[in-house]
Amino acid sequence: MDLTTKPIVMAMMLLGLGTAVPRHRPSAVPVPNTFVNQTVSSPNAPPNAGENYAGDDTCANCHQEMFESFHQTAHYLTSRLPTKDSLLGNFNPDSNLLKTKNPELFFRMEARSDGFYQTAVQGIPPYITTRSEPFGLVVGSGGKGQTFLFWKGDLLFQLPVSYWKEVGWVNSPGYQDGIAYFDRAANPRCLECHGTYFASLSPPPNRYRRKGFIVGITCEKCHGPGPAHVQRYASKSGKTPPDTSILNPARFSRDRQMDLCAWCHAGQGVPLVPSFSYLPGEPLEKYIELPPPGPDAPIDVHGSQVELLEKSRCFQSSTMTCLTCHDVHVREKAPAEFSAYCLRCHKLETHRALGQPVAGHCVDCHMPKQQTRLIVFDWRGRKISPEVRNHWIKIYSPSPSN
Ligand code: HEC
Ligand code: HEC
Ligand code: HEC
Ligand code: HEC
Ligand code: HEC
Ligand code: HEC
Ligand code: HEC
Repeated sequence: MDLTTKPIVMAMMLLGLGTAVPRHRPSAVPVPNTFVNQTVSSPNAPPNAGENYAGDDTCANCHQEMFESFHQTAHYLTSRLPTKDSLLGNFNPDSNLLKTKNPELFFRMEARSDGFYQTAVQGIPPYITTRSEPFGLVVGSGGKGQTFLFWKGDLLFQLPVSYWKEVGWVNSPGYQDGIAYFDRAANPRCLECHGTYFASLSPPPNRYRRKGFIVGITCEKCHGPGPAHVQRYASKSGKTPPDTSILNPARFSRDRQMDLCAWCHAGQGVPLVPSFSYLPGEPLEKYIELPPPGPDAPIDVHGSQVELLEKSRCFQSSTMTCLTCHDVHVREKAPAEFSAYCLRCHKLETHRALGQPVAGHCVDCHMPKQQTRLIVFDWRGRKISPEVRNHWIKIYSPSPSN
């Protein structure tokens, strides 16, 4: 359990709910109507605010299997508190330094008894100055890498050193090699995409309440607040369908299904209302302006899966959505396994003329991995960028696998 679900769970324990909700087979358990008000209350909280949530641990009582598989996904792991498990970089004394091209600056990553620290060490001995800040939040599941945030009072900033799986410790993306910056604000949109809930206390925009935030993308971020649903199934009465007590995106229209994923997979956009206001099932355009790219405008492979998929003939000539290929409750499949999804609509015969094996390789040729231009690390005098799967399904020529 993370820190942030504690108050809610404690409130439940006080009410005798913590152990009372049965696993798997719901039966009569009294859940008071005032359930929501027992948690941290906030009168001005938007409908999908963390204050209104029951928390993943509560969902686990009846959706155990889904809870366990979901908690291994990149969505759930996309932000965490710093621990030796969540921090993937190496803190051992032989591997915990990042040298820069500036001979008078290096960074040191340390696990101390009171937490994990990043220290910029600047100057030539004996004239050394240092600045240490504690790792406060870990952003990124680490499938590719992680960036770290630190608290200064109730302000959140990015740390200058990130972790990238291919190379280890690196200058954070967009940071110039050889300079120690500690003043990059972590804006709400960043946390909206990489977390469940942070209560803004702005201005400035990177001021947040330090209690009650919810890291990782959790069940209710996509399903909406759960207490009414928990109550419905915890008691014997009132279970006649339809169940409107919880949002099920499977019942959304195609546009609203796309909106759910577009909330975080269609680029930064321009927020029209404060972040953390969106409730899935609503038209996203009322919350975030995501101007459609021009017909010839380049679309980066990072973070724009929606725009790219929408350019595909597959998408335009069928009722395909992101859910056609992805189940967000389980860890991502290997690329070869996606071929089966293509073959639901296509036949292998089209490729007789190619004269090479295609089964299991559809996405290698039609959804190639390509380098993003949006995430750039300045590393040992080189610029490096991760590769992301291109969601514009089409005929690439020459075929990138050749
Ligand atoms: C007390 C038991 C219980 C708890 C706790 C519980 N659920 Fe459910 N949930 C059920 C039952 C029973 C169903 C209906 C049968 C099914 O689909 O498993 C259901 C169905 C659902 C559905 C599908 C709804 C539909 O009509 O299509 C979603 C989504 C859902 N639950 C999400 C959640 C989330 C998120 C949480 C945590 C906030 C949660 N549940 C907590 C018992 C529970
Ligand atoms: C609240 C923001 C948010 C929403 C909503 C969201 N995603 Fe994501 N998604 C992310 C972030 C952030 C990552 C990167 C996680 C990481 O690796 O740290 C991600 C990663 C993924 C991945 C890669 C998983 C992996 O194992 O590498 C897939 C696939 C994906 N999302 C599909 C979807 C689909 C489909 C939807 C709509 C049903 C959706 N996402 C909705 C934020 C979101
Ligand atoms: C990133 C968004 C997202 C998150 C987070 C998420 N879900 Fe879902 N959930 C969906 C979507 C989309 C569907 C409908 C399509 C599907 O079944 O994949 C769905 C469907 C469901 C259903 C109905 C399944 C059915 O067969 O009808 C249940 C139950 C459910 N989710 C429970 C959970 C629980 C419990 C968690 C947390 C452990 C969770 N979800 C986290 C997006 C999400
Ligand atoms: C509009 C939503 C959005 C915003 C804003 C956003 N990200 Fe992401 N981020 C994503 C998605 C989606 C992915 C993974 C898929 C991809 O590359 O397209 C991702 C990937 C990442 C990864 C790599 C995770 C991994 O291991 O694969 C890191 C680290 C990361 N983001 C950090 C940040 C930080 C730090 C901020 C804010 C300062 C930020 N992002 C802002 C959506 C967002
Ligand atoms: C839901 C059905 C569906 C799925 C799933 C699907 N496609 Fe398609 N795809 C279509 C349709 C419909 C067309 C358009 C055919 C036409 O217009 O003649 C198409 C067109 C294409 C084209 C031609 C594109 C062009 O620009 O000429 C390619 C290549 C393709 N699909 C590959 C794939 C691959 C690879 C996958 C799996 C990753 C896939 N498709 C999954 C329905 C689908
Ligand atoms: C036709 C099948 C298909 C559809 C539809 C689809 N995806 Fe994917 N997606 C894939 C494949 C294949 C991968 C690559 C998996 C891998 O490399 O392990 C992938 C990977 C991803 C990743 C990880 C990208 C990376 O390289 O890190 C994200 C994020 C993602 N999808 C989001 C989405 C979103 C959002 C939608 C809807 C706009 C969507 N996908 C629709 C097939 C699909
Ligand atoms: C080695 C690369 C490669 C692989 C692997 C591959 N394709 Fe293709 N595909 C092509 C090329 C090149 C074309 C265009 C020339 C042609 O039609 O033969 C094409 C064309 C297509 C078309 C459009 C055909 C038409 O008649 O308009 C579809 C649909 C398609 N592929 C689907 C798939 C599916 C599904 C798979 C996996 C079973 C797959 N491809 C695997 C390279 C590949």
